[in-house]
Amino acid sequence: MDFKLTEEHIMIRDAARDFARNELLPGVIERDEKQEFPSEQIKKMGELGFLGMMASPEFGGGGMDTISYILAMEEISKIDASASVVMSVNNSLVCWGIDTYGSQEQKEKYLSKLTTGEKLGAFCLSEPEAGSDATSQRTTAIDKGDHYLLNGTKNWITNGNSADYYIVIAQTDREKKHKGINAFIVEKGVKGFEIGPKEQKMGIRGSDTHSLNFNDVKVPKENRIGEDGFGFKFAMKTLSGGRIGIAAQALGIASGAYELALDYSKQRKAFGTEICNHQAIAFKLADMYTSIEASRHLVMKAAWEKDQGANYDLSGAMAKVYASKTAMDVTTEAVQVHGGNGYVKEYHVERLMRDAKITQIYEGTSEIQKIVISRGILRD
Ligand code: CAA
Repeated sequence: MDFKLTEEHIMIRDAARDFARNELLPGVIERDEKQEFPSEQIKKMGELGFLGMMASPEFGGGGMDTISYILAMEEISKIDASASVVMSVNNSLVCWGIDTYGSQEQKEKYLSKLTTGEKLGAFCLSEPEAGSDATSQRTTAIDKGDHYLLNGTKNWITNGNSADYYIVIAQTDREKKHKGINAFIVEKGVKGFEIGPKEQKMGIRGSDTHSLNFNDVKVPKENRIGEDGFGFKFAMKTLSGGRIGIAAQALGIASGAYELALDYSKQRKAFGTEICNHQAIAFKLADMYTSIEASRHLVMKAAWEKDQGANYDLSGAMAKVYASKTAMDVTTEAVQVHGGNGYVKEYHVERLMRDAKITQIYEGTSEIQKIVISRGILRD
């Protein structure tokens, strides 16, 4: 078993680390406070190739493996989880989905702009009454010959306002249940497509989350992804890979908080010595580090399986459920290690603690991951 990263992996990780420290760290507290989208930073991420890392070079992508992607995700998430969720949705859900299942025309028209960050993507599955229960889509797309007529509401959409291209999942034939679901590419600005107000969130406040309304939106037939009825499988496959990205985000949030706590514990003195010399703190650091390393192994294994062309549904779900719990545990302990300072914004750990929570919720809650895992175990 070879746990060594290649030189290329190390280069990508270091480039993401430098970018995060130099470009994301300044202003991250203010963006969180003001719920300000990191527009300039996301544009630079596109220029540096962080928005279409795994996509085909033919369409402007980096053609990199999933390991490279999760290394970059971890580094960006250590500093700014709002920027990393934008990166995650664009890479794993939108670019990967179109690259893997889209038509040549869709790749030329949409993917080539999404990989470079010229345009940004969103993935619209959740609805007021269909978050975890993804087959219960109420949004309808009625076949009108050369186009579909889209009607319905989508909720909690990441990049809701900042995106240009939206992958929308909708029911085309209710009788057929999940086999009557399709995925469509919808462009911002088309008639009948309205963006609702921005959600006021607990964490990842720099990312923009909105509900979307579709009122008789005409979607050209050529914008359907894959064969008729492929939409549910498309969503499930795409989310399976997306979960590896979110697991890497959780890993990054945890390791970012751990590094801050470690540094702080070596500087802060109490009872005549640095607090890291007290077992009460040293044992916390030991637990944090151990669970981060365990998460890293799960995330790497899932990414490696995806790169090998093996099934990664189970490993991705395990990585997400474990790394997201680690993110909650470690950030909570990082605040504790910082004491009163942990509770104020300038020390960063309170933000990381708020950001950590969403990793247990989006792209499939921890409860959904346990359904996927238990089904996988019981099937084998
Ligand atoms: N890959 C391919 N096909 C899959 C699949 C996968 N990973 N998982 C399920 N399927 C297929 C099944 O094989 C089945 O097809 P057949 O009938 O042809 O065999 C079909 O899909 C239905 O499967 P199930 O009967 O297992 O479906 P279910 O209704 O029991 O639901 C579920 C399964 C795992 C609970 C699923 O609904 C799910 O993953 N829900 C969570 C959805 C989710 O992640 N929402 C998050 C929203 S997106 C987001 O958060 C993005 C963001 O903005 C950051």
